[in-house]
Amino acid sequence: MINRYLTTAIPYVNGVPHIGHAMDYCLADVCARYYKLLGDNVRVQAGTDEHGGKIFQKARELNIPVQEYVDSNAKKFQDFIAKLNVSYTDFVRTSDPDHEKRVQEIWKKLSSHIYLEKYEGWYCTGCERFITQKEYDENGGVCPDHQKPYEKLEEENYYFRISDFKDKIREAIESGEMLILPDFRKKEIMKLLDESPDVSVSRPKSQLKWGITVPDDESQTMYVWLDALSNYITVLGYPDNDISDWWPATAQFVGKDILRFHAIIWPAMLLGLGLPLPKTIVSHGMVLANGQKMSKSIGNVVDPLEVIECYGVDAFRYFFLRKVDTFADADFTWEKFEESYNNELANDFGNLVQRLSTMMSKNHVALGDVSIELPEEYKALMDKFEFSMAFDYAWSLVQDINKRIDDEKPWALAKAGEGEKLEECLQNLAGSLMIANLMLEPFLPNATAKVKEVFEAEQVAPPVQPLFPKH
Ligand code: MSP
Repeated sequence: MINRYLTTAIPYVNGVPHIGHAMDYCLADVCARYYKLLGDNVRVQAGTDEHGGKIFQKARELNIPVQEYVDSNAKKFQDFIAKLNVSYTDFVRTSDPDHEKRVQEIWKKLSSHIYLEKYEGWYCTGCERFITQKEYDENGGVCPDHQKPYEKLEEENYYFRISDFKDKIREAIESGEMLILPDFRKKEIMKLLDESPDVSVSRPKSQLKWGITVPDDESQTMYVWLDALSNYITVLGYPDNDISDWWPATAQFVGKDILRFHAIIWPAMLLGLGLPLPKTIVSHGMVLANGQKMSKSIGNVVDPLEVIECYGVDAFRYFFLRKVDTFADADFTWEKFEESYNNELANDFGNLVQRLSTMMSKNHVALGDVSIELPEEYKALMDKFEFSMAFDYAWSLVQDINKRIDDEKPWALAKAGEGEKLEECLQNLAGSLMIANLMLEPFLPNATAKVKEVFEAEQVAPPVQPLFPKH
């Protein structure tokens, strides 16, 4: 059996989950369910990123002790993941003492690549990122994502010598040893890698207290990204445990906005630790709301729980996994969502199940012995993490079955008393539906489980409740 380790980015807990946060979870979950269908062993990590200036400032603003604040928001993310019908095997909170201790060990192991130097430059707390002078100039001193002027920092920091690893990272990306998906992001990363200076990996405690203390230097707090990136292996028990059964990860799911950290700093850390690089980094696009970045100040943040409560989790997953191209930016509007729910989910799939099961029930036809296997074309797409395309492929079979019903007119066979032909026709159609259903299992776990129940019963009976109920 193959072991597969899948990871998701750990969100900052300076707010509640929004629809964009769902992407990593949904993609990793589809992948995990697919590997399980193939019979592989799967481990999925999730977690919360709880340190850094952004979270500290937010807790201050709200006048809540910071630990209390992160505790309550971490819980909201855990609840959110459960609502998405996403399961994970390991959950890490970066304020866990185990994680903190392990990150300090990691720092010590990297210490020959770390040096102390004065940092004079810019920082964006929203991005939790040191900003180069070039970027500062290009953006006129204001962060385009957070609309806030970059902060000027003049402090003594530890630096991580990325230059020690640049050649190896470049080679790993070029050779596909560490595959970056989609392919078009590779060029951007290569350019960033070439330009990437050594990264500052600490802040003076006088400037930032909320984080992990640098080993043997009480005056410094570790940079939140060094702390956060380590989660992918601390959660497996590194360095206390041998993690070679699970590491390197089969795939790490991240948004395109944080690909740079995962394709440059993270591989440099792994190389410094003598660990292999992840096999694939899958970077998805951004979800916008009505064409705009979601932001509390614009007031266009879409609450994912509202969508799920109203339309159900499968409808949510349908939209974000099929209507949203796995690798591209996408726009959420209630109109688009409603349209895809009515015209596709309920019409194409819901009605097909209803129609076919009703005919089978009326004519006392059971599924019979059919061989149900995943088509090679589908597997090829899933293996390349082309999930929305694989979903399309499965859906085209659903549409094809609908068309076949219209063409083959089983009701006419029934009327003409052609019992044998009718049975054969319905069983063929149901067999195809079971193949489509199997392909859809990773995407729509609830509905597909119900469909299986309906068609695998000795006496087929149409579902009592609609497959995709709306509340
Ligand atoms: N804490 C870091 C990740 C550390 S991983 C070692 C972080 N947190 S985040 O909360 O800003 O983002 C968490 C994940 O959600 C990232 O993969 C990010 O790309 C994704 N998204 C956040 N907003 C998003 C959209 N609007 N659309 C799609 N994904 C988005 O970055």
